[in-house]
Amino acid sequence: MISTFSLADLPSASPRTLSDTLEKGTIAFFPDVPIGLPAADELEFLRNEMPRLIESKNVSYHPETKHITGIDAASKAGKRAEGILRAHSERVQSFLRAAMPELTEGWTVGTSSFRPLEEKGRGLGPHASNELVHVDAGAYGATHGDRILRFFININPDRDRVWTTKGIFPELYERFGRAAGIASEKSRSLERGPWNAMYSGILKTFKKGRLIDTSPYDRLMRQFHNYMKDTPEFQNDSHGHREFRFPPFSAWMVFTDMVSHACIEGQYALVDTFVIPLRNCRLPELAPFHILRGSHRAISH
Ligand SMILES: [Fe+2]
Repeated sequence: MISTFSLADLPSASPRTLSDTLEKGTIAFFPDVPIGLPAADELEFLRNEMPRLIESKNVSYHPETKHITGIDAASKAGKRAEGILRAHSERVQSFLRAAMPELTEGWTVGTSSFRPLEEKGRGLGPHASNELVHVDAGAYGATHGDRILRFFININPDRDRVWTTKGIFPELYERFGRAAGIASEKSRSLERGPWNAMYSGILKTFKKGRLIDTSPYDRLMRQFHNYMKDTPEFQNDSHGHREFRFPPFSAWMVFTDMVSHACIEGQYALVDTFVIPLRNCRLPELAPFHILRGSHRAISH
């Protein structure tokens, strides 16, 4: 469920070593951050200033519009945070492009986000909570089956960031798909019909239209995400439960639509999000889209 890549391992890793790791639902863990970090004074600024200035869940730089949210963008601190996260996003992008050229071809670069608040006992509403185990559903609106890749760095100098999981999507679908109401006895089409495709195309032309886009696939993923967070029997089930501790200045990346996860403890993380075209996957039969469509195999019980 986790594969470790030391800095010495990386140059000899084949281009598909890392991407196959992700596609199989394994967390790629880097004990030492494999990219340059913001300067020490910039890290200190993020850790010290953002918790008191933050206005929403995270502070996020949006590369498509080149602006920052979660903090007063026009303030001096907002401008400084924007510059730090923009440069960080570019370093993460360069690393991932070089490490996984085929997987990242034609990707969408999403937000570069800083999470300044302690996750333990944060008290967010259940569907926004990071403390409840879930798989991610949607990123910047509908993904239509494309994959959600997230790259994390723990920039807390003293404390681990702690995750729990209950396994990967194919297993969870087998066990809970029926209870969640997303299971299908036979193959089904999740492709967008012509009207749905046209609707998505029209929405894309609006600045925020993409955020309200949806698809049959995205609705099923949202339903499963909400089932997981709303169901105490699922949250309390110990089957497949594992805990991972990510030490200070380690990094990890994962397909978060594939690996169920909760962050139960930790403060100060950088999180970069990317949407990876499903067509780039070498093991598409493992992807949630194909599992839900039943082209892999229909649920058997
Ligand atoms: Fe998540």
